[in-house]
Amino acid sequence: MHKGFILWFTGLSGSGKSTLSEHIIPLFKERGYKVELLDGDEVRTNLSKGLTFSKEDRDINIGRIGYVARLLARNGVITITAAISPYSAVRDEIRAYCDHEEVPFVEVYANATIDALAARDPKGLYKKALAGEIKNFTGVSDPYEAPENPEIEVRTDLETIEQSAEKIVTYLTSKGLIG
Ligand code: ADX
Repeated sequence: MHKGFILWFTGLSGSGKSTLSEHIIPLFKERGYKVELLDGDEVRTNLSKGLTFSKEDRDINIGRIGYVARLLARNGVITITAAISPYSAVRDEIRAYCDHEEVPFVEVYANATIDALAARDPKGLYKKALAGEIKNFTGVSDPYEAPENPEIEVRTDLETIEQSAEKIVTYLTSKGLIG
């Protein structure tokens, strides 16, 4: 059985976590691997329905995503997660569980400046957040703790999707996680 792993995206809303995930899924599938995506927006409509964006609820949300991701990855599935996951403590906690279970945990920081995200703003959320219409919006009125030592950092405001995807594939290949 192929060894699964977790590809854990973290980054602000609109930083390209979901877009990049959707882009790389076929690259794994064409190599014959099983892949699952736990997308923040989607998780919040089912597994985490009813949770708010308080620190406490975000930590619960991320804990659940981490739990399911580990179950999948230890059964040979390449598991991609795409949630903001703004707090480093809970990300590091999931990393520690993974280390314990020998499930590789690959953190990908989708980095883009707030200015670039606010200019792009496909959902119109930054506009609302900057106008004070959405409270506790990550990066505007709520914290985002960037990872200090991510395995991979992509600059989604400066690179093309293809360039970012290439970085990820190159890293995973160099570690022998994909062939
Ligand atoms: S997390 O903080 O718990 O990891 P998650 O990734 O699930 O967040 O959800 C983020 C998505 O929820 C954003 O992309 C955005 O569409 C929406 N959202 C709604 N309110 C907020 C908020 N206050 N802060 C951040 N994102 C929000």
